[in-house]
Amino acid sequence: MLQSWLKKNEAECSECMYFKISGRQEKIMIWKYMATVRITRNKSSSRMIDIQVQMSERAVELLALPDDEPHFLLDLGCGSGLSGSVLEDLGHTWVGIDISSAMLDVALEREVEGDLLLGDVGQGLPFRAGMFDGAVSISALQWLCNADKTCHHPAKRLYKFFSSLYACLSRTARAIFQFYPENSDQMELVTSQAMRAGFFGGVVVDYPNSTKAKKFFLVLMCGGAAALPKALGEAEEKEGISYSSKREQLKKMRGKPLKKSREWILEKKERRRRQGKPTRHDTKYSGRKRSGRF
Ligand SMILES: C[S@@+](CC[C@H](N)C(=O)[O-])C[C@H]1O[C@@H](n2cnc3c(N)ncnc32)[C@H](O)[C@@H]1O
Repeated sequence: MLQSWLKKNEAECSECMYFKISGRQEKIMIWKYMATVRITRNKSSSRMIDIQVQMSERAVELLALPDDEPHFLLDLGCGSGLSGSVLEDLGHTWVGIDISSAMLDVALEREVEGDLLLGDVGQGLPFRAGMFDGAVSISALQWLCNADKTCHHPAKRLYKFFSSLYACLSRTARAIFQFYPENSDQMELVTSQAMRAGFFGGVVVDYPNSTKAKKFFLVLMCGGAAALPKALGEAEEKEGISYSSKREQLKKMRGKPLKKSREWILEKKERRRRQGKPTRHDTKYSGRKRSGRF
């Protein structure tokens, strides 16, 4: 049944699929399936990758890290490492944790630079106090609102998760969660447990009036109450600046090389060498544009 459902939905392979499936085994299969779809050359998957990448870039923007310094970041529910790749492209070092070994296998296949950990964040995070400069989480937090096992108590799991996260972040750090709350009760549950654990902050809703572009970001701050960042929204829409073109402009302003350019590839290879990872030599062909002919 799952197979035929997957076939039928292949064309519209998007985030909302996660909500339609119940039963943990099936969820993991869907993630593995989606991860496979992501690495194939498929129109809908590249659109989906773009969305994940855009959301990850926005999450990093909301982290408000001091400019032009590499930071040590945590990716919660890192999956196949799409969000992690955004962190490494911006020059940061990261550690990812995910409950699905299938997803982590895909991350390994993709040769991400981050260190990967298999684990359920609802059981608390196994890191030293104050070791991370920030944390991001893309499309994962809503899963902690479900009780997948009879022993699961969402409020308790969220509290355990947030208190262990609070402990392993530095006192100036932020944690940014892009997530899909099912309703206002879930949003209340998530924020109340985060505040109980010691965080300050709240939810920023980007493009609140657009059904497609609307995105929820839970912005958590460790070091005391501060104003929430401004949501993206009406002003940009009116002026006709698209979500992605704004990202591109910001990137160019920060002086980072454009993704997939020769400069970008050489920088990435240099980072891998510094980390002692096997990396091919640079040649005149590295990052060369392909003609498209075989
Ligand atoms: C939609 S995927 C997003 C993956 C990645 N962040 C990205 O942007 O591509 C959601 C991920 O959350 C992970 N996840 C769900 N519940 C989790 C939990 N309790 N602990 C750790 N990871 C979890 C899933 O295994 C899945 O890889």
